[in-house]
Amino acid sequence: MRSFSILLHALCPTIIISSAHAAQQKRQESPGLLINPPGFFPLPTPHAPRPEPLISSQPQSEQFTLNLSNIQGDILISPSAVNIAFSNSGLELLLGVTNLTASGDPFAAGQASDAFNLGDPSPIQNNWIPGFVDTAALHGVFLIGAQNTSLANDVLDQIISYLNDSIVEIYSLQASARPGDKEGHEHFGYLDGISQPGISGFTTNPVNGQVVIPPGIILLGEEGDPVVRPEWAQDGSFLVFRQMQQLVPEFDTFLTNNALMIPEITTLEEGRDLLGARMMGRANRAFPLSDNLTLAADPNLNNDFNYTLTDDNSLCPFASHIRKSYPRSDLDETTVDNLHRIMRASTPYGPEVTAEETASNTTTFDRGLAFGDLWL
Ligand code: HEM
Ligand SMILES: *[C@@H]1O[C@H](CO)[C@@H](O)[C@H](O)[C@H]1NC(C)=O
Ligand SMILES: *[C@@H]1O[C@H](CO)[C@@H](O)[C@H](O)[C@H]1NC(C)=O
Ligand SMILES: *[C@@H]1O[C@H](CO)[C@@H](O)[C@H](O)[C@H]1NC(C)=O
Ligand SMILES: *[C@@H]1O[C@H](CO)[C@@H](O)[C@H](O)[C@H]1NC(C)=O
Ligand SMILES: *[C@@H]1O[C@H](CO)[C@@H](O)[C@H](O)[C@H]1NC(C)=O
Ligand SMILES: *[C@@H]1O[C@H](CO)[C@@H](O)[C@H](O)[C@H]1NC(C)=O
Ligand SMILES: *[C@@H]1O[C@H](CO)[C@@H](O)[C@H](O)[C@H]1NC(C)=O
Repeated sequence: MRSFSILLHALCPTIIISSAHAAQQKRQESPGLLINPPGFFPLPTPHAPRPEPLISSQPQSEQFTLNLSNIQGDILISPSAVNIAFSNSGLELLLGVTNLTASGDPFAAGQASDAFNLGDPSPIQNNWIPGFVDTAALHGVFLIGAQNTSLANDVLDQIISYLNDSIVEIYSLQASARPGDKEGHEHFGYLDGISQPGISGFTTNPVNGQVVIPPGIILLGEEGDPVVRPEWAQDGSFLVFRQMQQLVPEFDTFLTNNALMIPEITTLEEGRDLLGARMMGRANRAFPLSDNLTLAADPNLNNDFNYTLTDDNSLCPFASHIRKSYPRSDLDETTVDNLHRIMRASTPYGPEVTAEETASNTTTFDRGLAFGDLWL
């Protein structure tokens, strides 16, 4: 048995796209894995009507147009869920080939070769987790979602015991949702996961502003996938995983020191909020002064915008995070833009900022975003 090098990644709690096999085995449901803070739209679910709605979505099983017995993209609501993804070198090992992907293809080359284009500081050896640097040596990743850390660790132990010495653990990261009213927020304090593309066949009741895209934009071989895929790849997806450290006290200090002030009109808090909002493209509920909380908490309002009326750069700068990563009406939303849509499933990792870190404006404990994306 050839040895596989696997990046093990324990998440708790998060939403994981399961394999069809796991989904069939784990149809039972219990609350906890899904979080539903104010502002989140109900997630589509392929499940039959549930005894006790976890979230305010209507059962959508009857309305499905995709063949779910043949689909790997199944939102699983269960105490735990496992997803496995392989790198190009991992797939070549599994398939016993050396030419799976044309050389120069970004999937074959891996993220390291694209680090410069991604804006990662150079050399990556100084800034990347060592296990990520040698792309060819990294064969795959397990994403484990669970209601709590001890269950995530149990699932991890189970996987390791099943696979025995056929895998080598390169690296493992434990993520965790933020507590209390920070639920659903990333460490800078912004609610995350509001905007997702709707998927034709899954998303039967899109919220206002949610563009529904063909399933083949996310699921290989489905309608809308412009590439002919090998049979085994049908209904799989590409997964990007990045661990991104966030320097929260430093970010806050930067906002304070560079607050956008209108003398004698804005308070320091407002100026700080405004700069953060212009960098992110969304307001921060930690600084509610310039935010409309009614709008923020309503999934039918909080994503219902485009840049058609604001393309002068004054309300949402071109350089803001959300406008750069999804330019909406800046590009033709029905074509180019949508071909590059991604399904985000990130979870924060690391502890809450401590009082000492806040007082010193300096990060002591590693924290950030365990960033997982599906795309095509
Ligand atoms: C630590 C790093 C990051 C943080 C803190 C972060 C945070 C956020 C936040 C707060 C939002 C707005 C909430 C929402 O619309 O769901 C957002 C939206 C988004 N982010 Fe990120 N993000 C990070 C990295 C990334 C990366 C690396 C990508 C892409 C490669 C990305 C792609 C997106 C996209 C596509 C949206 C939705 C834009 C829209 O529809 O308006 N993010 N992010
Ligand atoms: C759905 O997919 C399964 C597995 O590939 C197949 O056996 C079945 O015939 C498909 N059903 C429909 C309605 O296409
Ligand atoms: C890889 O090589 C095999 C055998 O020569 C060939 O059949 C296959 O088409 C090649 N695949 C690619 C992607 O070039
Ligand atoms: C973790 O979640 C599982 C599944 O719901 C539950 O059985 C277990 O008691 C929980 N453990 C802890 C420590 O909360
Ligand atoms: C893996 O380990 C388990 C228990 O430790 C054992 O039952 C099983 O046979 C092993 N599998 C392989 C393929 O060695
Ligand atoms: C907040 O948004 C809601 C919904 O769009 C709107 O009715 C209300 O007037 C807004 N409040 C302020 C202060 O702008
Ligand atoms: C942008 O939003 C406005 C206002 O909601 C709407 O009338 C317009 O059709 C949208 N434009 C595009 C390209 O979606
Ligand atoms: C932290 O940053 C704030 C805002 O710039 C500043 O007022 C304060 O003196 C800084 N504290 C330390 C310990 O550097």
